[in-house]
Formats: sequence, structure tokens, C-alpha cells
Amino acid sequence: MPVIPVVAIDGPSASGKGTVAERVAKALGFHYLDSGALYRLVALAARNKLLSATDVSQLESLTRQMDARFDSGKVYLEGHDVTDEIRSEWCSREASILAALPEIRAGLLDRQHAFRQIPGLVADGRDMGSVVFPDASLKVFLTATSAIRAKRRYNQLKDKGISASMEDLLKDIAERDARDAGRPIAPLQQAGARVLDTSSLTIEQSVDKVLGWFSELRLQVS
Ligand code: DC
Repeated sequence: MPVIPVVAIDGPSASGKGTVAERVAKALGFHYLDSGALYRLVALAARNKLLSATDVSQLESLTRQMDARFDSGKVYLEGHDVTDEIRSEWCSREASILAALPEIRAGLLDRQHAFRQIPGLVADGRDMGSVVFPDASLKVFLTATSAIRAKRRYNQLKDKGISASMEDLLKDIAERDARDAGRPIAPLQQAGARVLDTSSLTIEQSVDKVLGWFSELRLQVS
């Protein structure tokens, strides 16, 4: 097992990988990287600077220079708490569009690597196992059917008092899946990962499955 172990959890939008990854990190006492939040922060920072997806060189410097901070479950951009703002449907869509730009992906690499600290890291995203941490100890591809993912997203929004239509959510999820899996650079892919379909699993069952795989691996190398 590498000196600082990484558990990479990749998967499509609204698959629940964030919740599972965070809980796995907590159970192991590892650090946690929500790489999607970084792409969302770039989208927000670009909007603040009035940049669009065609302003590639400015977007690249913005990506490298933005002051992004994660602290006690909160996300800060240039010192402002943007925890809720980065979860908006607008930010989800823009992040997925900007994430297709190789300059932005390259600009975020060092930031992501910096999260790999003792005693270990659980990282979730689309390319954690394929590009950012190719030597991860465990690579999981966490997914669920699009109908289940739309329903989970619907319930999350409902809990926040936000109304949404299942039809729009399904369409949005299908569009984002196509963009995230169809782009030429670092597409979402299952290759080399253990697939965990959570369609009929609870969060606890999903967490236990990942923890079980990780301890199996630890036993094999010890
Ligand atoms: O995981 P998320 O839904 O918060 O990610 C938001 C967008 O960022 C997603 O549509 C695709 C992009 N993303 C990516 O391309 N690579 C990652 N490692 C994480 C997210």
C-alpha cells in the first residue's frame, strides 16, 4: 500500500458518492477531498469575474490563483462562505461545462494532490482513480440508476424547501452524465475500479461495503 493511502470514489452526478466518501473518511480518520467542489468554485469565481468558457487563459490563471478554503464542512471563496451557493443547479451545470476544459483540470491538479496527507485521503469525483491519484489503494465507481439519482436529488431539494420537477431533474442528470462521461479529457469511467451500485443500498450499507473492501486490501498487504 502506498505511503499515504488514497481511497478514490468516482461516480456520476447525484450518485451519493459525496455522502459515502465523507463517512468513509470519518470512519478511517482520513482527510476528505470533494473535488467536485473545486470545479464548482471555479464556476463561481468565473462568474464573479464575468468570465465565460471561452476566456481560457484567464480561466486558467483564475483556477490557479483563486483563494479557496475548506473548513469544518464549510467552503470559502475569497473569504466568503459559499457552501450553499456552490450547490445550486446553476453551479452544477456550469461546473460540468468548465470541467471539460483541460486548462482548468490541469490548474486544479496541484491543489488536489495537496490534500494527500497523513494518515490518508478519501477523494471523490470523476477522475480520482484514473488521473489525479492513479496509485490509489482502492478505486470505487459508485453509481445508481438515473431514476434513483433524480429521486434522491428531488428529496434533497424538497428537504431544503426548494421545489423541482422530476422530469427536469432527470433531464439535467442525463445531460451532465453525457458531458462528464463523453468529454475527451479525464472522462468519468469505470475502468480499473470496483463498481458499487447503490440503487438498492442504504448509505450505511454503501459505507460498510467500501470499508470492507479497504480492510480486505489492508489485510492482503500486511
Ligand atoms: O461531484 P460534483 O457533482 O459536485 O461535480 C460537479 C461537476 O464537476 C461535475 O459535473 C463534473 C465536474 N467534476 C469533474 O469533472 N471532475 C471531478 N473530479 C469532479 C467533478
